[in-house]
Amino acid sequence: MDKSAKPNVIEVRDLRTQFDDVVVHNDLDLDVHSGEIMGVVGGSGTGKSVLMRAIIGLKRPSNGTVRVFGDEFYEADEKTRLSIERRWGVLFQGGALFSSLTVAQNVMAPIREHLHVEGELAQDMAALKISMVGLPPDAGAKYPSELSGGMKKRAGLARALALDPELVFLDEPTAGLDPIGAAKFDELIINLKESLGLTVFMVTHDLDTLHAACDRVAVLAEKHVIECGPLEEVRRADHPWINEYFSGPRGRAALVAKAS
Ligand SMILES: Nc1ncnc2c1ncn2[C@@H]1O[C@H](COP(=O)(O)OP(=O)(O)OP(=O)(O)O)[C@@H](O)[C@H]1O
Ligand SMILES: [Mg+2]
Repeated sequence: MDKSAKPNVIEVRDLRTQFDDVVVHNDLDLDVHSGEIMGVVGGSGTGKSVLMRAIIGLKRPSNGTVRVFGDEFYEADEKTRLSIERRWGVLFQGGALFSSLTVAQNVMAPIREHLHVEGELAQDMAALKISMVGLPPDAGAKYPSELSGGMKKRAGLARALALDPELVFLDEPTAGLDPIGAAKFDELIINLKESLGLTVFMVTHDLDTLHAACDRVAVLAEKHVIECGPLEEVRRADHPWINEYFSGPRGRAALVAKAS
């Protein structure tokens, strides 16, 4: 075995998922190494979000195995599941903050639920997360409707970080942000990865994010991962979707931006 190989935080094998008889994934394999940012790309509807849900225990596979931190979530008992869930944080596509709660209350929700911490301590823990994601302290008292799109993403990330996770799932975190806001968000993810040693599973279709932030990229097409590796390798693969995605006008622009 390669001694430099990092342990796998996520191991998906022979995954099959379906809704009734509509098959979304078949024979899908994917490894995510400890401490890396894995970018998951693919056309709309190829099953990126469903894959994330399958990994975090929200979409039971009809075949195959999903191991996170070495445990098979779907086979685990309730206690093990809870302890696995505490070790990851999730930012769903669209953010999904509770609109009737303030930012601080949103961040406190998992702290209350999983750590059973209340009061001032919970507030302090939430304030720390809010500052970690670069939001001003007064953002904690605001409701999601009072925040810009970029601030909402940061608030969602603060909630995902509430339990000091080792692993973070991000579904299209930069969607809807302007390029500057998106680049700042990329920087934030990279900094958090480095300072906290996070492993990140990130669904994105943002080519700049792939270039700036992702250590490896997995391409989803034809119901499985057709290519996985460093971006430079993956973009050279001979597949129609990959050619179009990476070598189309936007792909070329992202490459030029990276080189400059
Ligand atoms: N709850 C559901 N019930 C039935 N079908 C579903 C459900 N959720 C997702 N699907 C189907 O699974 C497929 C994959 O959906 P998914 O949301 O994972 O795509 P995606 O790759 O994340 O797309 P996008 O880039 O647009 O977010 C789609 O055909 C979708 O219609
Ligand atoms: Mg999606």
